[in-house]
Formats: sequence, structure tokens, C-alpha cells
Amino acid sequence: MEKEIGRNVFSNRESQPQSREDFEARRVISAHSNIEDAASEPNFRPQSFADYIGQKRVKENMEVFIKAAKARGEALDHILLYGPPGLGKTTLACIIANELGVSLKVTSGPAIEHAGDLASILTSLAPNDVLFIDEIHRLNRAVEEVLYPAMEDFHIDIMMGKGPGAQTIHLPLAPFTLVGATTRVGMLTAPLRDRFGVISRLEYYTPEELFRILKRSALLLNIEITGEGAAEIAGRSRGTPRIANRLLRRVRDFACVKGNGVIDLDMAKYALELLDIDQKGLDKTDQKVLSALIETFGGGPVGLDTIAATISESVDTIFDVCEPYLLQLGFLNRTPRGRMATAEAYRYLGIDPPQGKSFEGNLFNA
Ligand code: ADE
Repeated sequence: MEKEIGRNVFSNRESQPQSREDFEARRVISAHSNIEDAASEPNFRPQSFADYIGQKRVKENMEVFIKAAKARGEALDHILLYGPPGLGKTTLACIIANELGVSLKVTSGPAIEHAGDLASILTSLAPNDVLFIDEIHRLNRAVEEVLYPAMEDFHIDIMMGKGPGAQTIHLPLAPFTLVGATTRVGMLTAPLRDRFGVISRLEYYTPEELFRILKRSALLLNIEITGEGAAEIAGRSRGTPRIANRLLRRVRDFACVKGNGVIDLDMAKYALELLDIDQKGLDKTDQKVLSALIETFGGGPVGLDTIAATISESVDTIFDVCEPYLLQLGFLNRTPRGRMATAEAYRYLGIDPPQGKSFEGNLFNA
């Protein structure tokens, strides 16, 4: 059960920045996975490329690489997937393992605390298995150093003992494929990044792709939804399947309690309004970022830390979740001097863009 649906979570805590985890757990359009997503996603996660909607280029390339690796009987090259949260990095790793016909082991950067933890995961892999490391930018340096020889030529060096008598044991591993996922590709060290043979960026989904994903999920969850209802949710899901599927579950709740169980256009609009999600998929936090930028700082340029402090929000939430989508909508530019609102953002807030203000181009969107 999700609590505080559609409530402005800042209402009683305005003066205290919240941790990202705290805030994200409550935010209905958060792209980060919450407990409910984690419980339901595996149930309708596509198992093969045939069922996977969107990310056409990545999908086509992967299919070729997988066929080639299978034909050679070798492990697939290591793959790095990056992009905003909720776009299906874990789903892709599952499909890659399925299509290769091997097992998948799933872990994350912060979960691997010691070099020994990684060593025991690596030594448990069977030939050509896939190891998925989410948030790979959060691996600590000692663990990362174990990963280098493991990725490069499938061995690890284990130190036995301490001091002058210490010995290094060279332990061969079964060939494997590492699929790393990150929302912060810029935080990866060069030696780690260079060891991936394939680096793919996941893009936001189009409303048409989200529409198809919603129809598929509704069928699997036994939810009745009209084409217009699905299109309405798709248009407000920030290009993100995880958000689309979460909104589907929330709107279903309204349809069951306040309607006849069917999600049609009126029900979708009614529920999304109560959830505080506007036509473009922005919620109160995104709107606060825009109004701070425009109303408090005259459209910028202004630093990310200053925006975060002004609206009592964590820098991570703004950087990982709000900004990528505002950039995608063309509402925000990252410039060498700071964040700037675009003329579009002014119009969106119903304010005339100032005459004579120069709206610098986007230089740092990667
Ligand atoms: N559910 C979540 N993401 C999906 C995708 N890309 N294709 C099909 N179903 C999905």
C-alpha cells in the first residue's frame, strides 16, 4: 500500500531537506524503484526481446551481439547501460541472460562492501553467466580493483596473509559477462569504463511506446483500460515505464473505489489530477525547481546547490530525477555558469520570457 498518494510531501517539513530515499519513497512520479515496484515489476517484466517495447537501437544491437557470442560459444562482451532511472536497465540484463540461455546474478555497487564479497560472487558464476551490477558508479575502489582483472582476463588475485609473508593467489574464473548499470556515467573511473566492450545509453520512451507498455501491463494485471485512458497516462509518465506502470496501479485504485473499475479518459484525468501530476508529467517538486529558477533567480544562471537549498530538496533528487526530464522537455539548460530556464519554461509557468535575456544553449547535458 502506498501512503500519502498525491500529497505534497513538503507540507509539514518545508524547512528540512529530506534524504533522497526518504523523499523518493513517497513521490508518485519518482523514477527510482520503491518497495511496491520491486514486488510487482518482476511479474510483468518482459522476458525476451520479442516482448520488449522501445529502445529500438539498443535492442537491435544487443540482438546482434548476443547471436554472435552464441555462435562463437563465448561469453558476451561486458556491457554498460546508462541513463535516467526507471528506463529498464535491470529488465535488459534479465533479457540478455535469457536470450543467452545462461543464469543471471543481480547485485549493486553499494551492496558489495568488501573485495571478498565480490570474489565470492565471481567464483560462483558458471561459464558465460551474466552478472548485473546496478549503480556500478558506487563501487568502492578496493572492490573495483578486483573487478579489473576479472573483466579483462577472467581471473582474480587474492592476498593471503599479511606483512612480508603475504602471498597473492591467482584464481581463474569462468568467462562471464558483466552488465553494469548507472545513472551517473560521468562518475565511473576511466579504467572501469574502458573495460566495457559495449556502452549504451537508454533514452526516454515515446508516448506511443509507453502506451503499448501500459496496454501490455494492463492485460497482465487484468486491468480494464481504454485507448484514451492509456494515452492520458502515457503522456504524463515522463518517458519512463516504471512511472507509467506505477501510475497505472494508482489510477486503477481510483477506478475501483470511485468508478466502475474501468480506466477511461475521464477516470485517468480525474485520478492524475488528484495525484498532482500535470499535463507534462511534472509534479510539485519539478514545479518548485522551475519557479525557484525563474521567480527567485530571474531565470538563472544559478548553481544546483543553490536551487536545492532554496526548495529544501536533495541535490541528488534534483540531479538524477528532476533535471534529466526538464532537460528533455527543453525547460532547462546546463551552462558553464549554472542552470538556466529556457523561454519555454517561462511560457509553461504562464510568464512572458524577459525581453533581451540571452538563453544560452545546453552544453552539459550528457
Ligand atoms: N514493462 C516495463 N518496461 C517494458 C518494456 N520496455 N517493454 C514491455 N514491457 C515493459
